[in-house]
Order: sequence, then structure tokens, then C-alpha cells
Amino acid sequence: MLILGIESSCDETAAAVVRDGTEVLSNVINSQIEIHKEYGGVVPEIASRNHIKNISAVIDKALSDSGKAISEIDAVAVTYGPGLVGALLVGVSAAKGLAFAAKKPLVPVNHIKGHICANYIENPDFKPPFICLVASGGHSHIVLVKSYSEYAPLARTFDDAAGEAFDKVARVMGLGYPGGPKIQKCAEGGNPEAIRFPRVKMGERGFDFSFSGLKTAVINYLHTAEQKGEKVNISDVAASFQEAVVDTLSSHLIDCAKLYGVERISLAGGVAANAPLRERVWRLARENGMEFNCPKMALCTDNAAMIACCGYYEFKAGSVADLTLNAVPSLPI
Ligand code: KG4
Ligand code: ZN
Repeated sequence: MLILGIESSCDETAAAVVRDGTEVLSNVINSQIEIHKEYGGVVPEIASRNHIKNISAVIDKALSDSGKAISEIDAVAVTYGPGLVGALLVGVSAAKGLAFAAKKPLVPVNHIKGHICANYIENPDFKPPFICLVASGGHSHIVLVKSYSEYAPLARTFDDAAGEAFDKVARVMGLGYPGGPKIQKCAEGGNPEAIRFPRVKMGERGFDFSFSGLKTAVINYLHTAEQKGEKVNISDVAASFQEAVVDTLSSHLIDCAKLYGVERISLAGGVAANAPLRERVWRLARENGMEFNCPKMALCTDNAAMIACCGYYEFKAGSVADLTLNAVPSLPI
């Protein structure tokens, strides 16, 4: 089955053609990072306007790269939430127009489930049930994936998402946008034990996240040093902050998997592209006798291959929308 996936929830305009949920025939991403960099983060209105400018060409390229015509596609899958409402509307409108004109089923996809499904691409042996940590610019969730179409959220963040903390700390440190890769690079020569930043456990069982206090702790550390005229080792700050995030995310994931007796774990979302996080979870999984899977880096950040993959499973489970489909900015998992 061939699915055309469309994604426009944040600052990437993307389209992809995927066969049977695993084989990527094309994966086109038009990133707006260069445009938003100037503002230190995504400007929603600018994102929407650029999606409008790019979406048709991106879809055309995804079809031509795959060597398939729209007539050969079995369904059009599109992200309808969560995300920026104006940005989501562009993808949803394009998908509705295409599905209507080409007489194809329209499959609504939840962006967070899409991130999780990136785990199946190129690794069809990794199957549910498993527990996935989804950490991106907008979300930090631990999700029990019961089957290809059944998801149970086990933990969430009470305030900032992990990626948001990376982005905000990087901005204060003057490292630029997006913060995750910049902090990772800056941390390379630093000592992760130099400063003990807080690790917070929230919720009844201590699995929920809160990254707002950690972000404030880093900002306070930098301001205090500045006021005292002390020189700051910026690599030590980046490494210590990154260590606090990695320690928190990985320990919550492992503890959750142990409590639920699930022996397969995975990562997803933009923050899953973080090399120290991938290495830590891989090591902890091995030490605890768990199977670990992680999508390749390019499939961790926003893309449409993961939306086409998720669309395949949603379609098989009977999920089809009509032309009243709307964008849902705070769609829960
Ligand atoms: O999944 P994604 O592309 O978009 C959302 O759905 O939010 O995630 C983007 C987030 C940004 O906050 C970015 O700083 C973070 O993922 N990110 C990273 C890395 N690469 C991207 N965070 C830590 N380390 C990285 N290498
Ligand atoms: Zn995302």
C-alpha cells in the first residue's frame, strides 16, 4: 500500500511516499530554520506563509522522487495536530484538496504518534508493545504503544518540553537556533559534572517532567556569574545542562518500562537526535536487558515519512476523515 504523507505542523514543510509503512520511496523536507533563526525561534505567521509558498512544490517533488503518480497512491495522510494552527491548516487544506481531486481516502494523523511510528521505518522487526519517550520542541511524553494504533500516555511534562528547554537555554547562551544541536556541539569539550543542575520528578509516581526549573537554574547561574564578574566556562554549562536533561529523560523512561514490565523501549522526536541521549538510553537498555530502538537522526526531527508510516497503520485500523477535517492545535495523544 502506498501512502502520501504531508506534514506542516511547525517550521518544516514536508511530503513523503512510503510503501507498507516501512519502505521510504521519497522524503522531501523544506526546512525554514534559516528564516526563523534570525528571530531565535519559530514565528507562527511567517511559518504559515512559507508553508503556503512551498507546499505544492514539496508534494510534487515527493511524488516525482518516488516515481509514482497521484493515481497510484492509496491514501493521503496528513498531520492535523498538535502544532501551530496556521501551519497545520496549510497541510490539512492541501491534503483535503488533493484527496478530493484524486478521489483518495484522507487519513488524519496525530503528529506525536507520527514521531513514534518513525521507529518502524527501516526496522519492521521492532513491533509493539513497547514504551516510547517522545521528546521534541513541543512535547515530552512517555507513551505505552500497545499496538500499531493503540497508545496510552504514561507521563508528560508539566511545563516546558525538553526541546524547548534546549532552545531557550541556547538562546540565553547566545548559541542560536535550534538550540539542541548547538548545545550538543558546545558541550563536546565540556565537563558534564561541572555544575549540578536540578533533576525534577513530577506527578504521583515521579515519571512526569518539568524542565522550567532547570532552564531557570541555568539562566540564574549565568546571570550570577555575570554580576560577580566571574568567567564562565560555556562548554561546562552546556555539558552540565545537557547531562541534567539526558539523566532525567533516560531515568524516567527506564523506570517507567520497569514498572510496566515492558522490555522494549524506544526514542522519538527531535531531542532523540541528541547523541548523548541515544548513547545513554542504549547503555541503560543493555544493562537492564531491554531491547532498544531509535529512528535514524533524519527521521527524529519533523518529516513526512513518519506521517505516511503512521497513516498506513491508522488507515488499516479504519481511520478516515471527510472534508470537514480541521486542524486541532492541542490534539492530545
Ligand atoms: O520533533 P521536532 O523536529 O519538532 C517538534 O515537533 O517540536 O523537534 C525539534 C526540537 C527542537 O527543540 C530542537 O532543539 C530539538 O528538537 N533537537 C535537539 C537536537 N536536534 C534537534 N535537541 C537536542 N539535541 C539535538 N541534537
Ligand atoms: Zn515534531
